[in-house]
Amino acid sequence: MTLARPSHEIAAAAAPGVQPAVRQHVLDLDDFTRDEITAVLDNTTAMKDILHRDIKKAPTLRGRLVVTLFYEASTRTRVSFEEAGKVLSADVINVSESGSSVEKGESLLNTGLTLQAMGVDVVAIRHPHSGAPNFLARHLPKVSVINAGDGLHAHPTQALLDLYTVRSKLGRLEGLKVVIVGDVLHSRVARSALWGFATAGSQVTLSGPATLLPPELFGPDRYLPADHPLASVRIDTDLDRAVESTDVVMALRLQNERQAGGFFPSLREYIRRWQVTEARMARANPGALVMHPGPMNEGIEISSSLAHGDTSVIEEQVTNGVAVRMALLYQVCGAAPIPASSRDGDKA
Ligand code: CP
Repeated sequence: MTLARPSHEIAAAAAPGVQPAVRQHVLDLDDFTRDEITAVLDNTTAMKDILHRDIKKAPTLRGRLVVTLFYEASTRTRVSFEEAGKVLSADVINVSESGSSVEKGESLLNTGLTLQAMGVDVVAIRHPHSGAPNFLARHLPKVSVINAGDGLHAHPTQALLDLYTVRSKLGRLEGLKVVIVGDVLHSRVARSALWGFATAGSQVTLSGPATLLPPELFGPDRYLPADHPLASVRIDTDLDRAVESTDVVMALRLQNERQAGGFFPSLREYIRRWQVTEARMARANPGALVMHPGPMNEGIEISSSLAHGDTSVIEEQVTNGVAVRMALLYQVCGAAPIPASSRDGDKA
């Protein structure tokens, strides 16, 4: 009896004519085209089919070795990469700073070279320094690097799961109004979401205290040519006004650990002006989605009742994170044909 079709066939069936582009690394969304984003989202739908089976297993990445290399804390991203790899039958090894030779002072380069020498196929890296994944990608020709969040720079897999969640709930991305509110300055999630939504044709507005909006992109000196993907992005420090007739509101975590610079007068002031609440969402379009990448400071950037209410898709974001990461692992490993011996594994 045939239990399952290989997921690469499912992906092709789910998105006829769409083949995932051969991409060795996923470092940010600023080099993804709209078609490429669409291909990842279509393949995510195919991957969700696997997750809905009684036995959540496909042989697609059998024989592949995936390492999660995390120099920063994580729950959602690390666990979902591990689950994604295991569902696709890859071998997954988790490495964290604590307990590895990093504690003895080993450099990032030597850690990467060590993993490459062991035959690792994919490294999903989270690092406090912006650019660490790009650095590894430049120096490890035999490895695919996926950015699982680097410093203040980027979190592309989070952005893709956000895009997928919105598309699956509202049926499209093009033409939607999306508000991203809060500590944009310190948010790698916001930077990648901005690129993703803008490239997909959504109208993005950033809101929050002016001091927490990135001046290099949106200050008085910014210059973006009209055809730049981010040229359409708007700024509105008045959240009540920003959420008028919007389709999606994404609250960002207030990064308390980075607020020593006195970016706003007080937490009470921040909550009063920028907390995403039911009263504010009443100004948005009917059926507007409430999102948050997690982890949340409930009662600060988002009210608890809204975070767990009917319009919240926060848990769906987490669920979709597994399928998105399956699609990305499939894509970066997909440059080589699936070994025939793995295809045999579909027969039982
Ligand atoms: N959204 C996100 O990156 O969560 P984790 O830090 O738990 O991975």
